[in-house]
Amino acid sequence: MDGDLETRLKLLAHQIDVAKTAEEVRLLVNSALGSKGWVTDALTAIKTVHPSERKAYGQAVNEVKAKVKEIGDAKAAALGKAATSADEYLDITLPGADILMGRLHPVTLVYRRICEIFIGMGFTVVEGPEIEDEYHNFEALNIPANHPARDDMDTFYLGAGVLLRTHTSPVQIRTMEAIEDKDDVLIRIISPGNAYRRDKPDRTHTSMFSQVEGLMIGKDVTFAHLNGILSQFARSLFGPSVKTRLRPDFFPFVEPGAEVAISCPLCGGQGCPTCKKSGWIEILGAGMVHPNVLRAVNIDPERFQGFAFGMGIERVAMLYYQIDDMRLFFENDVEFLKRFG
Ligand code: PHE
Repeated sequence: MDGDLETRLKLLAHQIDVAKTAEEVRLLVNSALGSKGWVTDALTAIKTVHPSERKAYGQAVNEVKAKVKEIGDAKAAALGKAATSADEYLDITLPGADILMGRLHPVTLVYRRICEIFIGMGFTVVEGPEIEDEYHNFEALNIPANHPARDDMDTFYLGAGVLLRTHTSPVQIRTMEAIEDKDDVLIRIISPGNAYRRDKPDRTHTSMFSQVEGLMIGKDVTFAHLNGILSQFARSLFGPSVKTRLRPDFFPFVEPGAEVAISCPLCGGQGCPTCKKSGWIEILGAGMVHPNVLRAVNIDPERFQGFAFGMGIERVAMLYYQIDDMRLFFENDVEFLKRFG
């Protein structure tokens, strides 16, 4: 076969193969077999061929002609069949494609809920820097250098004396420092935000997490207020039958200090895998602000006192949404995130 014709045939076969409509196929076939088509031209050109080669030439061109027809007809038939099924059939009753809407992250949802509850009890939300100095993160909170409590909070240092805060407690210090009239102290704040520790990530630890700090200072603020506020908080978040339990614990910046647990909201305190069969789940640390902390911010501990607490938001969110791995909050898996909001 004439080399040129063979190349053209190959190209045309490919074009017909990928054609999507019968009309497209018709035009492609026509570009070869129509009155100005290249196969027609080749047939006309037989006059210019030497008489001894005309027979072979004519046969070759006719073969190409037959091939184009065959390919075109086969494709047209295939398209015709498809057309009667999906392609050209429009079912206007089918539901449209789902649009993926943005949603709030589960931690944000719980964070907002926690803030709402405390705002309802008269607390104000304040924020503090995530990049802190050692003084606000440790010293002013009664954690001097070499204090063993610093080991509990393996710290990301950014430079000498500068660090990523290991808890939200430095906001207590900044809030109390900012009080102008130290003869008239009344503070009721919560401070939500991120904190960082060099913890190895596992089901209950991530190196970035969030906390809500609480601080209430005034003339007659007592441990009973702390107990009442936290109990009310737990009932508001997890339901009216949830109980609160305070047990002694140690934090350098409070005295006395307490670990606060709630009765397991999943089993009602009966014991289940979530509460490790104990019926209780620890959700925060709290206590009466240590006199050294008040002294560090020039508040007279003889005249004013109060309480502080700190709770991990992811921990609460895990309980609230029954999630057993904290790392899920940070993986941005859309299928996981779609379950919330
Ligand atoms: N800052 C403490 C922590 O991160 C929590 C806490 C805050 C405990 C306030 C007592 C009072 O572990």
